[in-house]
Amino acid sequence: MCGIVGYIGKRNAQEVLIKGLRRLEYRGYDSAGVAILSDKVGKRPSRLQIEKRAGKLGILENILTQKPLAGNLGISHVRWATHGIPNTKNAHPHWCCANRIALVHNGIIENYEELKESLIKEGHKFRSQTDTEVLVHLVEKFYQANLEEAIRRALKLVRGAYAISVICKDEPDKLVGARCGSPLIAGTGEEEGFLASDIPALLDYTNEVTLLDEGEIAVLTPRGLEVQNLKKDILNKEKIKISWDAAQAEKEGFPHFMLKEIHEQPRAITNTLMGRISEDKEKVLLPELKSLEKFFASMEKIVIISCGTAWHAGLVGKYLIEEFARIPVEVDIASEFRYRNPILNDKTLVVAITQSGETADTLAGLHAAKNSGAKILSICNVLGSSIPRESDAVIYTHAGPEIAVASTKAYTCQLAVLYLFAFYLASLKNPSYFTKPHSLKDYLTNLENIPAKIEEFLNNKDNKKVIRQCTRRYHRSFGFLYLGRSLNFPTALEGALKIKEISYIHAEGYGAGEMKHGPIALINPHLPVVCIAPGDSVYEKMLSNIEEIKARKGIVISVATEGDKFISHHSNHVIYLPRINPVFSPFLTVVPLQLLAYYIAAKRGCDIDRPKNLAKSVTVE
Ligand code: G6P
Repeated sequence: MCGIVGYIGKRNAQEVLIKGLRRLEYRGYDSAGVAILSDKVGKRPSRLQIEKRAGKLGILENILTQKPLAGNLGISHVRWATHGIPNTKNAHPHWCCANRIALVHNGIIENYEELKESLIKEGHKFRSQTDTEVLVHLVEKFYQANLEEAIRRALKLVRGAYAISVICKDEPDKLVGARCGSPLIAGTGEEEGFLASDIPALLDYTNEVTLLDEGEIAVLTPRGLEVQNLKKDILNKEKIKISWDAAQAEKEGFPHFMLKEIHEQPRAITNTLMGRISEDKEKVLLPELKSLEKFFASMEKIVIISCGTAWHAGLVGKYLIEEFARIPVEVDIASEFRYRNPILNDKTLVVAITQSGETADTLAGLHAAKNSGAKILSICNVLGSSIPRESDAVIYTHAGPEIAVASTKAYTCQLAVLYLFAFYLASLKNPSYFTKPHSLKDYLTNLENIPAKIEEFLNNKDNKKVIRQCTRRYHRSFGFLYLGRSLNFPTALEGALKIKEISYIHAEGYGAGEMKHGPIALINPHLPVVCIAPGDSVYEKMLSNIEEIKARKGIVISVATEGDKFISHHSNHVIYLPRINPVFSPFLTVVPLQLLAYYIAAKRGCDIDRPKNLAKSVTVE
């Protein structure tokens, strides 16, 4: 998730771009850059001036303060790396071989490797390791004195998600943007135009914006905005008046980043799956694991290490890998793993799961594992962070930056990678699993459909009502108990962690079968018990647990599958989830628990995005 700002008009472009990027910094911050077309001076023609730097925006800003780039047309970018480490070369803008066209991009180009190969054969020279750079060379290839036409032809060859902004020195009165899958908005003022990934970047100049839809191209000139589609039709787009202030706008109107990130999950999971499932849905594509392929043949055991929410993802991973690939898996909290004497050898794969890639205990666990000869695979959200750098292979989640301390979208993206990894290993080590009635194609089709199911849940007003009702009734409770079984035992742990982290209510997550060994003593008419009971293989067992709670006058909040009327007779409240193959239920069951924690914390007036005593990235022991 990167940030784009483009400007054309009479103002000093550098000032507009930098100010806009500041407002988008929340989208990504590992590197930044600008391209500004210099004014024509006398006989000297205008030229593309590009300045970019790894690191925070401030580094670029300092350089531009000392050596400003003059001009009134420009594009700019803050990057959150997905392909290619965050260094100066990989920072945007990228430019073409003839130094004529510059481009910034937010998103992922799925088929960039094949495009790059053929462009290199045609003589194009690449300077970076990014997927983005193929776009600028493609535009160059098709350029014949009309920038939007070249972009249109280039985009027809591209698969993936993108929002781009492009300028060309041969057309100094034109700023062009296009969108497919990643956000882009256009704004206009008096003889000026803007492009940006998000509204806050424009609010200092205009509060009237045009939201581009998929497959639309925006052409901005000092005369105004023209929006076209890929078929060249000119579209009549509505302008929207924004009433938010800049701070609200960063959160896209959501009151907190956490709520925004909960709602971003469908897109984040789609991005994480993108390019990793073959078009015919018959294969998992994880080229990142190529170097481990030989090792997998002799691998005997997997040990997953992680902390906090990432540990819960690891627990789900164990169920998946053991079920599908039949490889033994241990899951350890990294701070325990590093201080015990685990039995590891060169036939062990250690999987480190971490959103930030910097968690001290996970990193120390990785060092211990390396010393024992194990291979290391990491699953991480931050490109180029410490843990991926020290791993033998990495699978990145493409959740985009997660700002709220309590993890939500990073968790469901970690799940997405773990499902892919389990299916990948099963294809290698236990291919007979995918004989009828379990076809890999069915599983992968279901997996791709998960974002739509989460979206469906998030749009369901009845569920919101139930969650609000539970919030009103139970926000003063002294404690919560969360029960789940099998794949949703980790969901129970995650639900309890969420409420603990942000609302400061004590909560316990338990495997429901363990209830009789302790927690049942706590059941009373004041204790809300969240029972996760999708229609899976342990559904009946969950029902028995629910009966036991009701018999002791406990409060039951069930998370069940739509159409399950039976459970409503035994619960005080039921939150219904869309029907899916139960093997994927952890993606859905966690979402109402995130929301419940969120609304309870909001009702209690807590600082949701920055809960007390917690840190987003725990880089000390
Ligand atoms: C902190 C965060 C949690 C996170 C955990 C592990 O405790 O508050 O949200 O799950 O660290 O972080 P990691 O970056 O390794 O996933």
